[in-house]
This record gives sequence, structure tokens and C-alpha cells, in this order.
Amino acid sequence: MQDKKDTFFQVIKDRRSIRKYTDEKVTEEDLRLILESARQAPSGENAQPWRFIVVKDQESKNFLSYVGKHGSGRRFTGEFLSKQMQERFKDLKDEEKKIAAYKKLTSGNVSAFVSEADINIIVLGKKDVWDAPFDTSAAIENMLLTVTSLGLGACWLVAPCIDIRDELRMKEYFEITDEYKLFAIISIGVPARIPNPRPRIPLKDLVFNEKFGVAYYEE
Ligand SMILES: Cc1cc2nc3c(=O)[nH]c(=O)nc-3n(C[C@H](O)[C@H](O)[C@H](O)COP(=O)(O)O)c2cc1C
Repeated sequence: MQDKKDTFFQVIKDRRSIRKYTDEKVTEEDLRLILESARQAPSGENAQPWRFIVVKDQESKNFLSYVGKHGSGRRFTGEFLSKQMQERFKDLKDEEKKIAAYKKLTSGNVSAFVSEADINIIVLGKKDVWDAPFDTSAAIENMLLTVTSLGLGACWLVAPCIDIRDELRMKEYFEITDEYKLFAIISIGVPARIPNPRPRIPLKDLVFNEKFGVAYYEE
């Protein structure tokens, strides 16, 4: 039992957003396990409103990359203009690094990597199911953890899905019917590089004891 617990928590700790992949392929056996883990996720009223499109064709992946790049570029430009981005980088004192980060983000290039992933899974949810955003998120997290346990890497992207114009482009290209909404793209491949963990807010600032604001933990 202890072994199972340790292994499970290790997978959670090892998961990272992977944005660089080798040319190696994901096996059909692994892909099926990843999709099966999505199918096993909980959903409100057991509605299972998720649907998945597996995208391996290079031209289609290039299209996803194009939409992702432009979606990200617009989003980050909006964040820059509304000064949210400056707030996010306020602790970075090196001006050159700061400007480089602004340029990289507003260019949208940060989301162009999907064309290099072996597989992209487009995650759709039924529009008439109230809990669809939560349901699809549960399915996605199951997939990310399965990916990690298989020694593969994945990244959850919403950048190509937020702008209505991008959603319409995607729907037309992938022939998605109108009862479905586009929620995310999950790019999957063999990691070329495992990044360091991103910082996490400590439990003492996240968890409260009976009343909001009263820390449950000291550390
Ligand atoms: C809802 C959601 C949307 C995300 N959208 C994007 C995205 O569009 N592009 C991207 O590169 N990463 C995206 N990410 C990945 C996050 O940037 C990443 O999870 C976060 O920085 C923490 O890093 P980690 O996943 O390596 O722990 C998204 C993650 C989530 C949960």
C-alpha cells in the first residue's frame, strides 16, 4: 500500500508541462491508455460530455500551431496592455531579461511548439452540459498523469481555444459540430527536456482552518 502511495505521488510530482519533444513516436498502446484514463474520469451526473480528436497529421499540427501562436500572441499582448504582465514580472529586476520575456510572450511563439509534438488531442465538451468545463478538466488531468507515468510528456493548452475567431477556425478545419465547444489541446510526445518544477504557493497560504484566512499549516 505504501509503495502504491509513493509511486502515485511521485507521478504527481514528476508531471511538468513539456514543450520540447524528440522525434520519437508515441505507441498506439500508450495512446489508448492515455485516452482510457480520460474516459475513467469523474463527471457531473456522469454525463461524460467529453469528446477527443487525435491529431497526428503534420499539416493539421501546423494549423494548430498557427492558431496557438496567434491566440497566445493576442492574449499576451492584452496582458501587456492591461499591465497584468508587468505585475507578473515585477520581481524580475534584470531589465533585459524582462523585455526578452515580454517579447517572447507577446510574439505568441510560446505556443507554437504543438506542431513538434507527435500527437495532439483536441478536447471538446458538450455545450448543453453545465459541468462540461470541470468534467473535461478532470479528464485532462487524468491524461497528463498517465502520460507522466508512461515516461512521456504533455502540455495542456487553452491558448488556441479562447478567442471565438480561433474556435470558429478550428471548428471548420476539424469539422466539429455545433453541439460541441472547444476546451483544450493536449500535446503529447517524448520529452526532449524536462524543465525544473515551476514554483508553487505553500500550503500555509492555501489552506485555512475553519475560517477563511486562518492558516491551517505553519509551513
Ligand atoms: C487551464 C490551463 C491552460 C494552460 N494553457 C497553456 C497554454 O495555452 N500554453 C502553454 O504553453 N501552457 C499552458 N498551460 C500550462 C501552464 O503554463 C503550466 O501548467 C504552469 O505554468 C505550471 O507548470 P507545470 O505544468 O510544468 O507544473 C496551461 C495549463 C492549464 C492548467
